[in-house]
Amino acid sequence: MTVAERNVILLGPPGAGKGTHAERLVEDYGLVHLSTGNILREAEAAGTELGKQAKAYMDAGELVPDELVIGIVRDRLAEADTKQRGVLLDGFPRTIAQAQALAEVIAQLELTGLLVINLSVSDEVLIRRLSGRRMCDNCDAIFNLDRDGVDVGDDCSECEGGKLYQRSDDKPETVAERLRTYYEQTAPLIGHYTERGLLTDIDGNADADAVYERVIASLT
Ligand code: AP5
Repeated sequence: MTVAERNVILLGPPGAGKGTHAERLVEDYGLVHLSTGNILREAEAAGTELGKQAKAYMDAGELVPDELVIGIVRDRLAEADTKQRGVLLDGFPRTIAQAQALAEVIAQLELTGLLVINLSVSDEVLIRRLSGRRMCDNCDAIFNLDRDGVDVGDDCSECEGGKLYQRSDDKPETVAERLRTYYEQTAPLIGHYTERGLLTDIDGNADADAVYERVIASLT
């Protein structure tokens, strides 16, 4: 089975590097990138009903209700390119109920080769990474103040016209709440997927290139 025939879940706490490695996997292997966080932020920026509903939860560091998020994922997975290219799920599932809904959709659509990669990173490293994260308001490219020497208002080096901003949920008090939410509601997925023989655990504390090598090794 080639990487393109796989459907991959990137699991891990806030700041583990899911979005960072997703960008590279999509570029290197052509997988469809399905980031529920990016979809919700775009809906919020566009002022849609979904965005308005999601904003309060995101700003509080809580999860958006399952029924809203499951609907988004179900619709996107049903599009034709997912079967041809394989899907990279970034930030979904995040609850056992989402994992159960995903299993049903995968069975209905006959998507094969599900693999779950869990990025394990210490809280200390996560907090440092999130405080330094800057993102592009146009193409969602991810940067870091410490590593890339960029800051809010700089031009994006990955696209035309994008400017860097700091996510509102990267404030220290919201980060603490997101971590608490992660341990309570999302970490149980590690056991869920381990029991099903689908999970590979990767030490994500190293630099991004070293972690990406481990991710690739787990896919092939
Ligand atoms: P979402 O956008 O999914 O955020 P998250 O899961 O909290 O994860 P992050 O995006 O913060 O981190 P990441 O792991 O992608 O790290 P990144 O690569 O950016 O969700 C946001 C909100 O939306 C949620 O709180 C919730 O409200 C809602 N939501 C989304 N999905 C939902 C769902 N399924 N159900 C319900 N609600 C949902 O890296 C972070 C920083 O570290 C960057 O600056 C990066 O450059 C740097 N970095 C990454 N890797 C390394 C490395 N190895 N070494 C050094 N620096 C690194």
